[in-house]
Amino acid sequence: MHYFNYKNSVLHAEDVSVETLAETYGTPLYVYSYKTLLRHFKSYDDSFKDFPHIICYALKANSNAAILRTFAAEGGGADIVSGGELYRALRAGIPPQKIVYAGVGKKEDEINYALNQDILMFNVESEQELMALDKAAEKLGKLVPIALRINPGVDPATHAKITTGSKKNKFGIPFEGALEFYKLAQKLKHVKIVGIHEHIGSQIISLKPFLIALQRLVSLIDELNAEGIEIKYLDIGGGLGIQYLDEIPPHPADLAEQIKPILQGRNLTIVMEPGRTLVGNAGLLVTKVLYTKKGHDRDFIIVDAGMNDMIRPAMYDAYHHIMPVYKKNRKDVFADIVGPICESSDYLGKDRDLPAMQQGEYAVVMSAGAYGYSMSSNYNSRPRAAEVLVHGAEHFLIRKRETYDDLVRNELVPEFMK
Ligand code: LLP
Repeated sequence: MHYFNYKNSVLHAEDVSVETLAETYGTPLYVYSYKTLLRHFKSYDDSFKDFPHIICYALKANSNAAILRTFAAEGGGADIVSGGELYRALRAGIPPQKIVYAGVGKKEDEINYALNQDILMFNVESEQELMALDKAAEKLGKLVPIALRINPGVDPATHAKITTGSKKNKFGIPFEGALEFYKLAQKLKHVKIVGIHEHIGSQIISLKPFLIALQRLVSLIDELNAEGIEIKYLDIGGGLGIQYLDEIPPHPADLAEQIKPILQGRNLTIVMEPGRTLVGNAGLLVTKVLYTKKGHDRDFIIVDAGMNDMIRPAMYDAYHHIMPVYKKNRKDVFADIVGPICESSDYLGKDRDLPAMQQGEYAVVMSAGAYGYSMSSNYNSRPRAAEVLVHGAEHFLIRKRETYDDLVRNELVPEFMK
């Protein structure tokens, strides 16, 4: 559900015409709908109202400060995977006590930063990391709150590149050794066990893998309790899918409903780390058709957004719906929608039957709010796009378009070349 609709044949973001936005800010342009962001957050929050819970938004999906502030104002926390994400979360006013920190490669300076900020918990992914945390906490005279990230060995039936909880993935601690691992953590002087964590993958459109994984974790919690190890926070990760094409993903309320019986009678606070579900369908990427041409067996629609702006199609063969800003009667063509980058994988859409678009008109890539801007780059020395937030009939620039100067800002010329 989102607030991008055609009004009088022109696509609007809430009450603003996408053409106005493109003309005002230029293209490529990321556009977000505030009302959609809010709606998604509230519906997640409402779904879990029967449980004590914290929604720790996964910053990696989209870390723009305006988006973080939107969720922070609703009581949202943050799931972070780097010092940079911690910096962004704190700067946007997210309380440290609502921040959880995952990732297999936390560095010493990042650990110290998070320890000094007194975040809610570190989601630990290896024994060596646990030792590093214990040592860092000792040095700082602190107790480090931890959860173990358990790899439950579940296949979430999603794209292989976004699976994280199967036996072959680098993430977490194998389920089988988890009890021993907790016992080891319990012995460490500067470590305080507070939780348990899992995140099995992304864009998952069936509840089944979530429930199997959760059941495994709950049985582990029981074993831990029997050993006198108390678990306060159960972090169920993110990963619920959204609709890109014709998927019918479960609603967060379905997830809440199904996990209720599993958690019955347990005194746990649920931590959730949704990313895509909150922002994915709240954003689109506006682009301009530069040229069209006929290929051997298809047309090519060449637009001014490339894989540097939106890498999901190239990286995961991801489908994003593409449509013109102007809706009018026209025939369909069989075409690839491609960008200006010198790579054959630089496409936003492949093998599509879509309305014949013409040079100079605007088109949009839908469902671009998650893992769009946050995965963008400067490849081919292309300045990154601007971002705009629409709020009713108002629109706000929330990130300036990069300039050529920005591209070279950090480069230095060796003395001998001067
Ligand atoms: N928590 C952890 C520990 C994660 O690693 C992730 C995503 C999330 C939460 C949020 O997952 P979500 O609710 O957004 O599915 N770049 C890929 C997705 C990679 C997801 C990585 N981890 C894509 O564009 O599909």
